[in-house]
Amino acid sequence: MDGVDFTVRRGETLGLVGESGCGKSSLGRALMGLLPPGAQIDGDLRFKGQDLLSLSPRERFALRGEELGMIFQEPLTRLNPLMRISEHFAETLRAHHPELEKEEVERRSREVLRVMGIPPTRFRSYPHEFSGGMRQRLMIALALVLRPAFVVADEPTTALDVLVEAQIIRVLADLRREYDTALLLITHNLGIVAEACDRVAVMYAGEIVEIGDARAVFTDPQHPYTRELLRSTISLRTTGLDFIPGAPPDLVAPPPACRFHPRCPDAMRICADQHPVQREMPTGTRTQCWAADQRNGLVELDPAEATPLEREEVSLADEA
Ligand SMILES: Nc1ncnc2c1ncn2[C@@H]1O[C@H](COP(=O)(O)OP(=O)(O)O)[C@@H](O)[C@H]1O
Ligand SMILES: [Mg+2]
Repeated sequence: MDGVDFTVRRGETLGLVGESGCGKSSLGRALMGLLPPGAQIDGDLRFKGQDLLSLSPRERFALRGEELGMIFQEPLTRLNPLMRISEHFAETLRAHHPELEKEEVERRSREVLRVMGIPPTRFRSYPHEFSGGMRQRLMIALALVLRPAFVVADEPTTALDVLVEAQIIRVLADLRREYDTALLLITHNLGIVAEACDRVAVMYAGEIVEIGDARAVFTDPQHPYTRELLRSTISLRTTGLDFIPGAPPDLVAPPPACRFHPRCPDAMRICADQHPVQREMPTGTRTQCWAADQRNGLVELDPAEATPLEREEVSLADEA
């Protein structure tokens, strides 16, 4: 992970957006300590002041579940078809609290099902007896039964239809109120972010290029990538497909300096030369972009650095 530096506060929902393949799920997994062996993370991941990367597998397991929860995209692949819902809850609770009495396991399970809007009469049903939307709520309930302080939800509504999606988003908002959970909501749907998130982080090629108050990011985006992302979303609804020109970069060998410069309409020479620094913009968002820095008077570039980047120069540089 590079250039990733953010905080999620209690009771807050932070949206993480960016094109498919930019590394959103990898970041979510890294936060949960779920990256495959061999994955390398530089820097530190802090949770309540503790460095997550220095934990032993056992400490990490304890933290996961009780402090950290994860909601995945495809509920069916995570639920055991041979186990009743009640058994799923019992297994999760017992793994972390072997001392719990049967009555207490049931009480806690039913409580979280109530918050999720799942009728208590369904407690002994099997996963296949639920609709897709219900199953996703079950997954959320399972992630929440240990009352984690921080939950990562990775595209929790992508497989669902629009009505069910709206329900799930409402449920996530309720849960935040009820449990004061900090939520990282990963999605490529900017509409969901506008509706459900307090703050938003925009990811490009494995880096957070802009982060701030959702309203500020949406009404006055500072990073050209954020701007293009918003524009392509709006035109998708109104005029059809209008994607950002160029292909998302290869994360193994990302473009040098600013990773967005080969596709950026505002690119200057410095953008192909030096990696931008994250700075606070007048809108209050934190953004890493030379053009935004210059526009807002945060840097003084010399004329050579500020010369617009010719597209030919870009392709030459790419071949070099
Ligand atoms: N920082 C990184 N460096 C190298 N490869 C990465 C990095 N982040 C993600 N990847 C790889 O890029 C691919 C897409 O990442 P993923 O996290 O699934 O993106 P998203 O969820 O945004 O679609 C995966 O194969 C992942 O292993
Ligand atoms: Mg993903």
